[in-house]
Amino acid sequence: MKKSIRTFLKHPTKDNSNRSANPAVIRASTILFNTMQELYEHEKKIKKHKKITHYSYGRYGSSTTIELENILRELEEAYHVFLTGTGFGGVALAIMSLCRPGDELLVSDNVYGPTKEISEKLLKEFNVQAKFYNPDSFEDLKNKVTNKTKMILVENPGSNTFEFQDLSKIIKLAKREKIFTFLDNTWGTPLYLKPLKLGFDMSFSSATKYFSGHSDAMGGSLAVNKKVFKKIMFFYKLSGYRMSADEAYLIIRGLRTLDTRLKQHYENTKIVINFLKKQKKINEILYPHNPSSKNYKLWKKYYSGGTGLLSIVIKSKNKGSVIKFVNSLELFGIGYSWGGFESLAILQDLTTRKKNEYIQSRRYYRFKKDQYIVRLHIGLEDPKDLINDLRNGLRYIK
Ligand SMILES: Cc1ncc(COP(=O)(O)O)c(C=O)c1O
Repeated sequence: MKKSIRTFLKHPTKDNSNRSANPAVIRASTILFNTMQELYEHEKKIKKHKKITHYSYGRYGSSTTIELENILRELEEAYHVFLTGTGFGGVALAIMSLCRPGDELLVSDNVYGPTKEISEKLLKEFNVQAKFYNPDSFEDLKNKVTNKTKMILVENPGSNTFEFQDLSKIIKLAKREKIFTFLDNTWGTPLYLKPLKLGFDMSFSSATKYFSGHSDAMGGSLAVNKKVFKKIMFFYKLSGYRMSADEAYLIIRGLRTLDTRLKQHYENTKIVINFLKKQKKINEILYPHNPSSKNYKLWKKYYSGGTGLLSIVIKSKNKGSVIKFVNSLELFGIGYSWGGFESLAILQDLTTRKKNEYIQSRRYYRFKKDQYIVRLHIGLEDPKDLINDLRNGLRYIK
């Protein structure tokens, strides 16, 4: 019987030998075999990418991480899923597996800060040149492609500024020019967008965010097609990247409610945005909510749902008052990351940015010095309470 993903997420990974509804957490370094022949046979199976229930050594994972790989492979419709100890490890894994001296890497100029930093700073030391394109201009991307371009790295929407790109156009160009493609899909999750089905070679999610959903685990998921599998496996094995069994267990537990949580994040976000739209102190809401905007149209074209992360742009001559607004919020924690059950707020500081710092990035190019971006993660609290909290906090802005 063909099941929907919603049903599927509730049912995998029963542990039949222990009769538990959830998988066992198998922490292992040594994996035991009965004979050398059995060990050799097992390694052959792994090499041929055959279905296995355990690896031959704990550095590649345990039966718990295999359970998670299997769930994500189904969710992403992937050939294979590589799990890493943090989300960022998954980004680094993709870049370091594919880019070699002399190559160029094309990156959308609205990516997560450390993704920008690895592209700009670290790769330079390996003679790989990173070029950044304007996420609002496909022409700019097209013009920056050369015969050295090895990979296009897209984050959709971009961290903090939420530009949406015309993804099929990028795929078409990359296929024609034989360039590998990577999409950071952490915002939309594979529930609302399946990058591999669209034609990307790699679909990445920070599992720290919505997959885990409870702000208590870290991990990365790099889902890939057959074309890039071997190259990434080569680097994965030699780099020692892996996810622990404990984190894998927590992420499996989070995934069971991914659909339900995302629905509620989105419902709450729409209600909060309706309130924010009416606030005079807010210049702009960075989220695909306005049906006449380009971002909304591109979101509608590719995504089947929305999630809970957005930014608001506040115009103020008094930075201290914006900080007071953030500090005053009782229900929004101040801190990095997002995708957990709870609401969060953070000021993306535009004014203290120094030249040549990685964060000095074009992704903020259209904002002026007296505009402040506050990123909000809308959690699963009652949105009425979130609105009251925001209304109270906005009074501080001068
Ligand atoms: C869009 C995006 N990609 C990647 C990452 C990195 O994930 P992690 O924090 O799990 O290393 C983050 C983290 O904030 C993110 O927001």
